Amino acid sequence: MSALAFNFEEITARPLKPALLELDGISRGTIEAHYKLYEGYVAKRNEILSRLADVDPTTANGTYSEFRELKVELTFAVGGIKNHELYFDHLGGDGGEPSGAIGALVDRDFGSAGAWRDDLRATGLAARGWAWTAYDWDEGRLFNYIGDAQNTFPVWNATPLVALDVYEHAFWLDYRTDRAAYIDAFLDNLDWAVVNEWVSGYGIKP
Ligand SMILES: [Fe+2]
Repeated sequence: MSALAFNFEEITARPLKPALLELDGISRGTIEAHYKLYEGYVAKRNEILSRLADVDPTTANGTYSEFRELKVELTFAVGGIKNHELYFDHLGGDGGEPSGAIGALVDRDFGSAGAWRDDLRATGLAARGWAWTAYDWDEGRLFNYIGDAQNTFPVWNATPLVALDVYEHAFWLDYRTDRAAYIDAFLDNLDWAVVNEWVSGYGIKP
């Protein structure tokens, strides 16, 4: 047994909501291919943890470079899981203006829904992988944060409430290079009721 052995549970992919196969402007083919990538992150996470349980860098059978590679890959796989669970969970709605508690937070912290949307869209166009609207618990307000990959750049003590995937796999089949059109389609399919459940579940107060 390795000196660094630890216990872990395998996890399984969450099922895909049927409503996601009937979105306006994001095709069934895109969602099905995208969901397969998510399943891949889940499988990768399980595989990496299993390999980490066997790699002991302090013995002749393991190296620190191998250990490091697995540790870094784990952040990518786990990021891919968390980002995509947010993404799939809050699609399937009718979009429109943010309503309820999230609407009040957006108005308070960005001035208007339009200003929030413009900043999120610009963040998504500037990003290589992700743009998130997150509630920063230290500042007590929302920000639109940027991510280039599944594991960059998380901000500690901030909770993502909107997760916009701008990797090409999210839109290439439907929009080719027109990422802005895809971002509009994403916004048109957001389910604000789901986001408001998160806001209320986390106890975020407008
Ligand atoms: Fe993705």
